Amino acid sequence: MKIDDMHFFNMGYLDIKIPDNLFQSLKNECYTTGYKNEEMVSAITGSGVPVHRYIENKENLQNLQDFLKTLVPIYKERYGLDPSDGIINRSINYENSVNKTKFIIHRPWINYHKKHEFIPKHNHLGVFSYTIWINIPYNSEDEIKQGNEYASCFQFHYTDTLGGTQKVTIRLNKNDAGRMLFFPSLLSHQVYPFYTSNETRISISGNLSINIGNTENL
Ligand SMILES: [Fe+2]
Repeated sequence: MKIDDMHFFNMGYLDIKIPDNLFQSLKNECYTTGYKNEEMVSAITGSGVPVHRYIENKENLQNLQDFLKTLVPIYKERYGLDPSDGIINRSINYENSVNKTKFIIHRPWINYHKKHEFIPKHNHLGVFSYTIWINIPYNSEDEIKQGNEYASCFQFHYTDTLGGTQKVTIRLNKNDAGRMLFFPSLLSHQVYPFYTSNETRISISGNLSINIGNTENL
């Protein structure tokens, strides 16, 4: 008898350790000028949600952009799927002007996340999004002892083949500084509060979307 498991395929995320020089440079801005950078207001801005401030250092913006561009072909190669396909297919009128290789890197932002704050479940505008952890001031083992099994965690949510909701929980520790997740923008995610540190948890996030080229007829 022969029995094969036939798994359905789905888009996941890349789990990355960013180059150390990029990490140090981003970290430097987060801990110096970053606290005074322009504040970003979004759909989730509000009481109990961390303050978001744009990255403004030109060198950081350029280096981050250069790095992000290298991740797009890696994602496509690893998953054999491109989250931009749906967007392209819906853009029938722009079929000839769409260049799938050209991505716009939107202004990244810093999340200054304090004890007890949270980021509610949301997704992003764009094709690809990312988060880079700059400082995790706790270990998830200690957090979970506070009584909540998801305390301090980053969590993705997705729909399974039966229409149910599944989750992927990422438990973070102090040694996760410099770790990055690169994922499709429409993938829902959230961040739970942490309880065991008075230090600020710092991360950087942002989006990439497609440059659809000629828009003069709009
Ligand atoms: Fe997000």
